[in-house]
Amino acid sequence: MNTMISIRTPDDWHVHLRDGAQLDQTVAATARCFERAIVMPNLVPPVCTVDAARQYRNRIRAAIPPGASFQPLMTCYLTDGTDAGEVAAGYSEGVFAACKLYPAHATTHADSGVTDVRRIHAVLATMERTGMPLLIHGEVTDADVDVFDREAVFIERVLSPIVRDFPALKVVLEHITTAEAVDFVRDSGSMVAATITPHHLVINRNAMFQRGLRPHAYCLPVAKRERHRLALRRAATSGLSKFFLGTDSAPHPRAMKESACGCAGIFNAPVAIEVYAQVFEEEGALDLLEAFASEYGPRFYGLAPNAGQISLMRTPWQVPDEIEVGGQAVVPFLAGETLTWQLATNHGLRAGQSGPPTI
Ligand code: DOR
Ligand code: ZN
Repeated sequence: MNTMISIRTPDDWHVHLRDGAQLDQTVAATARCFERAIVMPNLVPPVCTVDAARQYRNRIRAAIPPGASFQPLMTCYLTDGTDAGEVAAGYSEGVFAACKLYPAHATTHADSGVTDVRRIHAVLATMERTGMPLLIHGEVTDADVDVFDREAVFIERVLSPIVRDFPALKVVLEHITTAEAVDFVRDSGSMVAATITPHHLVINRNAMFQRGLRPHAYCLPVAKRERHRLALRRAATSGLSKFFLGTDSAPHPRAMKESACGCAGIFNAPVAIEVYAQVFEEEGALDLLEAFASEYGPRFYGLAPNAGQISLMRTPWQVPDEIEVGGQAVVPFLAGETLTWQLATNHGLRAGQSGPPTI
């Protein structure tokens, strides 16, 4: 039984770092083990221009803890009115790494999202021509589609036509939650990939209803039945390079989650790499963790893998009940639970601290 594992430094291909007072803690939590991260643009107002992305990147860079090496990769929030020229300029200037498609009203701060993909066909054509990846929140929003079916229906009604009409467009179906998504991505060409979160590998939909309503297990797309979780675990540990790491870490203050209309989102950055390691070990696939966490993502984005390494020790530790983020309490994923693996090299900790991420 391994007591220590070392892997090439991983990247997070999908994270919400938020803004303002929250940045110090969110950036530290991600930079403690991830070298790069694809930063979601769903701020208020959303990050829609090259200028806004450049300014947001500066604010993130200013929050990187001393001694940590971290590169935020910025994304452009697509709206019905997105200008193809703005997107192309941002990509060629090295500001935008990708565009994010939120169907309008699909999730947190998606109100300005795209109402009909036909409205952004010129943008998608430009992205296809330039090699810029399209990152997709894959859910329809129709009130008559059951919330648990929204990903599968999106694949049929929206994603299949995109992939058909733009065959050379790089597409990442983000935070997949269903066996249908696994099958679609696996059976599509090399231009289609998916990210998988730690929480969708660990919880199924029952987690939201354990002896009461559990708002901290609520995210979008919502966790599905057990058979879908098992399909995701098989995909992540399959060694197929189309499936790679993206945490979708998305903090909301405790009060915003524990509410009559609680926000969607799970703050998993403080435990993400440790949870992935645990899942891969449970699946007998620890030898494939490095490829999933550190190789397949950069390969899809056309970037070199990181040169450094991180190490995890088999040293059980308890996840804190809450973590302060920007002066407000946030309940992290698996709060109070004991995890098997602990990060040995932890850039995100303040000087003088050691041990698990009490950021
Ligand atoms: O659960 C989620 N939270 N899903 C998303 O798509 C957005 C995210 C957030 O920003 O809170
Ligand atoms: Zn997200």
